[in-house]
Amino acid sequence: MTETEAVAFPQDRTCPYHPPHSYQPLRDARPLARVRLYDGRSVWAVTGHAAARQLLADGRLSSDRLTEGFPVPAERVAQVIKNDRRRVALLGVDDPVHNTQRRMLIPSFSVKRIAALRPRIQETVDRLIDAMVDQGPPAELVEAFALPVPSMVICALLGVPYADHDFFEEQSRRLLRGPEAADVEAARDELDAYFLQLIDRKVKEPGDGLLDDLVAQQLAAGTVDREELVAMATILLIAGHETTANMISLGTFTLLQHPEQFAALRADEALMPAAVEELLRFLSIADGMLRVAKDDIDVDGTTIRAGDGVVFSTSLINRDADVYGEPEQLDWNRGPLHHLAFGFGIHQCLGQNLARAEMEIALSTLFRRLPGLALAVPAEEIPFKPGDTIQGMLELPVTW
Ligand code: HEM
Repeated sequence: MTETEAVAFPQDRTCPYHPPHSYQPLRDARPLARVRLYDGRSVWAVTGHAAARQLLADGRLSSDRLTEGFPVPAERVAQVIKNDRRRVALLGVDDPVHNTQRRMLIPSFSVKRIAALRPRIQETVDRLIDAMVDQGPPAELVEAFALPVPSMVICALLGVPYADHDFFEEQSRRLLRGPEAADVEAARDELDAYFLQLIDRKVKEPGDGLLDDLVAQQLAAGTVDREELVAMATILLIAGHETTANMISLGTFTLLQHPEQFAALRADEALMPAAVEELLRFLSIADGMLRVAKDDIDVDGTTIRAGDGVVFSTSLINRDADVYGEPEQLDWNRGPLHHLAFGFGIHQCLGQNLARAEMEIALSTLFRRLPGLALAVPAEEIPFKPGDTIQGMLELPVTW
């Protein structure tokens, strides 16, 4: 066994904003190393920036988790794959199916469409901060702010009633974190039933959300069936609120732990777009994109064989010292970053324009309205998410 093959992947972070220390041998071996999955299986870990871009753009890597050899990050996921042969839309399908699904959605996430949503995002953010101020400090920022901002926005965009948020936030939590395989399966069943009903309602009473458009245009024309539409709605809803919520909570925590950078940002709000990009690079919350090779692929003289599992450690890729000077530092003045926090290639995040707008508006408004924002308990007492899921804070008690 090589030194890196002894390294388990994925692992919990020891600090919520740094990659685990135990990944160090993988950094030393970049761009490619062998790592061990939870079940002892050995797969490739991509840790170099150039190799990651090469591989994520290579159609010989598959995202289809039902393909033999797909790298499974946790026991509950293996169980689910065994019992539940439904495919995840977009993220879990290859071309040409992927391309057909993605083309139906791209116009709704364009820079122009998202720019038009900004006043609505601002209104949502203002309302949530008003409620926090009315209640007075302290507050639990995940529940009061970080989760409802993206959740309300994606509901409005899709045409999903926000009144149902307790239900789908709970299903989303079970889907991503279990803890048991049965939780994941039950959550998928619940979401399927929910969206089937919602789609039926939209057939009879059309509204003005993206799902309404898909029902009126694609479902009616037969370019998509109800099951596929449900799978698309599920991924949009889950990806649309969990990820950005984690960036808002973990981003706030990280800034509170970096007073110098935080002060510079407060002194010059024009830095916010650059700060959001740097936080995306630094935090790399989707720290483990997964693929399986369908054919042999050469990377810098090393051959990835057909059937090999490949995992991408975004946190290491985004701290590749060949690309980023002093990668462990938070620095608002790096210039264009070309980070892979949103992935790369055909699966590159569909919601990235939306996520950027939400983060910019949420963080700048929060810091302007609550200038005395601080942690309400010692940092060490604040729980954060486990390593085999999207990174973020489970809770963030704050005061101001
Ligand atoms: C800061 C927040 C976000 C981060 C860090 C993030 C990260 C990512 C990453 C890394 C991927 C690629 C995964 C892979 O290649 O295996 C991805 C894909 C995707 N994201 Fe995001 N995401 C964020 C916000 C959003 C939002 C707000 C939406 C809204 C709908 C969204 C929807 C999607 C979808 C649908 C895909 C699959 C795209 C495809 O397969 O073609 N994401 N995201």
